[in-house]
Order: sequence, then C-alpha cells, then structure tokens
Amino acid sequence: MSKEKKESAANENKGLDRRDFLQGSATLPVLGLFGYALHKKASYDKALREEKVAEEQVQEDLQPLNIALLGAGEQGYVLLNAMLKLPNLNFKAVCDIWEEFNLKKTVNILGKYGHEVNGYVDYRDMLEKEKDLDAVVIATPDFWHAEHAIACMEAGLDVYCEKEMSNTLEGARKMAEAARRTGKLLQIGHQRRSHPKYIHSYEHLLTEAEILGRIITVNGQWNRSAQPQRGWSSRYEIPQDRLKKYGFDNMRQFRNWRWFKGLGGGPIVDLGSHQIDIYNWFLGSNPVSVSARGGHLYYPKDTHEWYDTVMVIYEYETPKGPAQAFYQTQTTNSSQGYFETFMGDQGTLVISESGSRGSLYREPTAPAWDEWIRKGYISPPKIQEMQAESEAVLDVRETLAPDEHKIPIVFNDPYHLPHLSNFFNTVRGLETLNCPAEIGYETAVAVLKVNESIEANRKLPFSEDEFHV
Ligand SMILES: NC(=O)c1ccc[n+]([C@@H]2O[C@H](COP(=O)([O-])OP(=O)(O)OC[C@H]3O[C@@H](n4cnc5c(N)ncnc54)[C@H](O)[C@@H]3O)[C@@H](O)[C@H]2O)c1
Repeated sequence: MSKEKKESAANENKGLDRRDFLQGSATLPVLGLFGYALHKKASYDKALREEKVAEEQVQEDLQPLNIALLGAGEQGYVLLNAMLKLPNLNFKAVCDIWEEFNLKKTVNILGKYGHEVNGYVDYRDMLEKEKDLDAVVIATPDFWHAEHAIACMEAGLDVYCEKEMSNTLEGARKMAEAARRTGKLLQIGHQRRSHPKYIHSYEHLLTEAEILGRIITVNGQWNRSAQPQRGWSSRYEIPQDRLKKYGFDNMRQFRNWRWFKGLGGGPIVDLGSHQIDIYNWFLGSNPVSVSARGGHLYYPKDTHEWYDTVMVIYEYETPKGPAQAFYQTQTTNSSQGYFETFMGDQGTLVISESGSRGSLYREPTAPAWDEWIRKGYISPPKIQEMQAESEAVLDVRETLAPDEHKIPIVFNDPYHLPHLSNFFNTVRGLETLNCPAEIGYETAVAVLKVNESIEANRKLPFSEDEFHV
C-alpha cells in the first residue's frame, strides 16, 4: 500500500478522535452529560476499534527490515524490548564483546522470539559477514559510538545510535560528516524528541497556542539515589586481553565506564543531555553561555572520575528575548526524580518522560485558556480543586495557586518505542528523523561544555557557529 493510501485508510477509520471526546465533555452543561457521555463513549470505542484495524493493516504492509544490535548491555536490552513490539523487524545479528554473558543471553532471547541471529564479538566481523543488513542499533559505551556508527554507515547501513552521540565533539562531528558523506540515516537516541507528550507540548502548546507567553526561566533536574558500583560474576569475567583490546583497563572499569574520563561523561552527560536537549528544542535556540559547578561530593575520585553532583546555568537569547535555564543532577538522593519546568509570563509547563507527569499552570493575569481546553490541548482544571480553592480562606499576602491542567496524552508504550519506530519508518521512506545527526551534535556541544566550564571554573561563551557541523 502506498504511503498516501495508508494515511487515507487510517484517516477514514478515525471518525471521532480523543480530542472530540474531550471537547464534547468539556463544553456540555452538566444535565444530560451522563447520557451524552455514554453515547460518545460507544462511538469513541467503535472509532478506536476501527482505527486499530486500520493500523494493523498498515503495520502488516510495512517493508520488512533486517537489523543488528551492536551493544547488548542494559540499554541494548531496553531497546530490544521495545523493538520486539515493532512490526516487520528481522533480527539477523548481535554484536557484543561480553561474549560470556550479554552476547549469549541476547542471542538466546532473540531465539525464543523466533529470530535466528548470529552472534559476534567484533563489529568488523559482523560487517564483513552480514551482507543483507538494512540498519543497526548501537548501544555501546559512548566512547565507541563514533567508530561504530561511522563504520556501519560506511558499510551501507542506516544507524540508530544511543546518546551521548559521542564522548568527544570531534567524534560527534565525524559522525555527522559520515552521515552526510554516505547519505545514510543517523538517528541519535534522545528519545523524548519522539515522545507524544513532548511533541504535543512543542507543536500545540508552545508553538500554536504560545500558551506560556514568553519563556524567561527554565529549570530541570535528574535526582537519583546513591547506588553501589555495578558488579559482575567471576564466572563471566572477560579475559584481560579482550578488555584491553576494546579500551577497558579491567572489569570494574568495563562495568562502570560512564564514570571514567575518556569513556563516558558522568551524570551530566548521561542523564542531563536528555533534558538539556529539550531546553534547546522548546526554547527554539542554543545557549549563548554556560556556567557550571560540579564536585566529588560523595563518591571517591578514584572510582568515580566524573563529578557526582553538577549544577548548571545556561543563558539563552531566544527568538522572544533573553532566558536563563538551571539544571541540576545529583546522584545521592532521588527526591522528585526527573522533570523539566518551563516558566513563561503567562504560564508554566512541568513535563517529564516519566509516567503521567505533565501539567500546565496558568498565570492569574494571563488570557483564559478556554480555547485550548475546548480543542483538547489541555484538560479542564479539576472540579474538586476549584471548589476547594473557592472555599479556602486566603491570607491577603498569599497568591491563589494557579489551576492545574493536565496534558491529555495517554502513553503506555516503552519510552523508546516511538523514537525507534520513527527511525525504522524513516528507513522505509515513510517519515523523517526526529533527532538526526545535526540535532544530536547541537546537544552534544551544549552538554559537553558543562564539564569544561567546571574544569575552567568560569562561565564559558558559545558562538552560534560552534553548534553547526
Ligand atoms: N536513551 C536512554 O535513555 C539511555 C539510557 C541508558 C543508556 N543509554 C546509552 O546507551 C549506551 C549503552 O549504555 P548501557 O547502560 O547499556 O551500558 P552497558 O555497559 O550496560 O552496556 C554496554 C554494552 O556494550 C558492550 N560493548 C562495550 N564495548 C563494545 C565494543 N567495542 N563492541 C561491542 N560491544 C561493546 C558491553 O559488553 C555491554 O554489553 C550508552 O551510550 C548510554 O549512554 C541511553
């Protein structure tokens, strides 16, 4: 079926969408709402069933792709779980230097799902022997990304490569250049770029509705509990010569590579890059300066070379005016987890990849949001909350807390599924990449300079040229 035909089949079967349902219930008077809602619900369920049938048909028709997984550790496993839910992917090969454990485990798992895959320790063997691959998904440690991604693209494969694009800007630049030179796709694993909640917020709330007005301040965090170092069973130890060959001094470093200089970038790169990527996306610009403080406040330097606690301030000159963004990552207390908050002169957006977290708060002086409620872009404020607030006796010095509106996007799939789906559908010629090399590169520039600023102990400027390959 052609792309146009698929889209028209899906549209014809959509009938009533979720937004219609929200819109209807938000504008009706209370009397008769129940009966109306039941009727609407039946039509809504029917529409959903028809939509599902149309989607299944579209999925059956998707071009099959032969793929390989390069790096089958924790994240490789997470990606695999998501990919096994996607249609028409034929796994052909897995490559991982941990032959004794991760490689064997992954080959077995895929076998149980009916994929007869060849296992490889060295990616060069895989590329030499597997001649009918279309694409590869890379989830090796950051310091391997450039070599792996470039070799795969040069071998004619489209590449999905986990973030951080590379642990060095030179590596990231070479990856982007290789994508251009070979004409191959390179998607970087900043998966929020494909998350329906983030896309809805960017397209409908920030761009179309400009619901926050002018964003002046941003803050975000990723707080994580103290964790022991990753261990391993002596039964599955990698021989020393193989560890050395692939850039690791010993098993401890191999298991905890993200804390080591030259291999990873520490928590600010590991965790922060996802969210700083969103700062740039939602603000519509790259930062003009960064000042950061970081330290070894908890873990010893010899086991954790990178900073365990980092606080950053970015300055922006956005199309609407200057803005400042704060970001914190700390690895000793998980309070309030991870989220990003965008504060404008008309409202606040609090958003997170995690669970159902996603709310808006209107400033009391801002124009009403009725239109956006009617369109189903945001939920109406909760009735109980409105009553509770009207009955509360306010101290004259207090400001009434703004109403909370939820982002009405229900998303129960694995976090990485839409981003992987976007990649494979782009390989099939049906979509365009949500995080191509150029965007991954811009984020890498913004994030890797945090560590430089900490080392230099001062604010560092960015020039706009730095962000472009
Ligand atoms: N997008 C996300 O949300 C997210 C989350 C976690 C990790 N990641 C990224 O995924 C990547 C992998 O992280 P992880 O947590 O799975 O690490 P990991 O250490 O658990 O897994 C890495 C795997 O790569 C293998 N490996 C190492 N060097 C190799 C080489 N030269 N050739 C082949 N295999 C090699 C290791 O044996 C291991 O199985 C990193 O880039 C990380 O930043 C992304």
